Amino acid sequence: MSLRVAILLSGGGSNMVALVDSMTGTHPARACLVLANDPAAGGLAKAKARGVPTAVVDHRPFGPDRASFEAELTCVLETHAPDIICLAGFMRVLTPAFVTRWQGRMLNIHPSLLPKYPGLHTHARALAAGDAEAGCSVHEVTAELDGGPILGQARVPVLADDTPDSLAARVLVQEHRLYPMVLRRFADGDRGRLDI
Ligand code: GAR
Repeated sequence: MSLRVAILLSGGGSNMVALVDSMTGTHPARACLVLANDPAAGGLAKAKARGVPTAVVDHRPFGPDRASFEAELTCVLETHAPDIICLAGFMRVLTPAFVTRWQGRMLNIHPSLLPKYPGLHTHARALAAGDAEAGCSVHEVTAELDGGPILGQARVPVLADDTPDSLAARVLVQEHRLYPMVLRRFADGDRGRLDI
């Protein structure tokens, strides 16, 4: 029996596509759900086109009530019984209670070389700091924002004429390589760190 992977996203879903498309053949996992917090998320149509079940839990009607939003997320997730949850451009901060519920089974991709630049605007911050390299990290999700154990990183050079957008595009190519590789290892029970 394959492991079941739920993927949470907020936007275009290019990392989701990379993950779903990697889970074929002898891969030990399959996508069981793509869940968005925004009904307009472009990733939903891409998931449907791949035959992956989709769901939306819009965060907006819940206002500041994160607990109720997350209770609904949990309800939908439990219906699909995931073994692993992959956050893939999911732009809501999760409370410790939700994270604890899924800890050890939830991964995230973040567009920086953590522990540098947790949070937002990672590429602009790397450029402002004059960094010679940038990259992305896949980590286990813990209660600390972007702070869980790092499972893998990919690096790219920062070029002299980079803008935040050009650097983001170069890093995104590596995100699409790194996340499927780390998920495959994680699904095989390997929590060791991968550097590519
Ligand atoms: C990716 O660059 C991902 O690393 C980032 O959002 C983008 C989603 O793109 N995630 C975060 O910033 C999380 N803090 P995608 O929807 O095309 O995968």
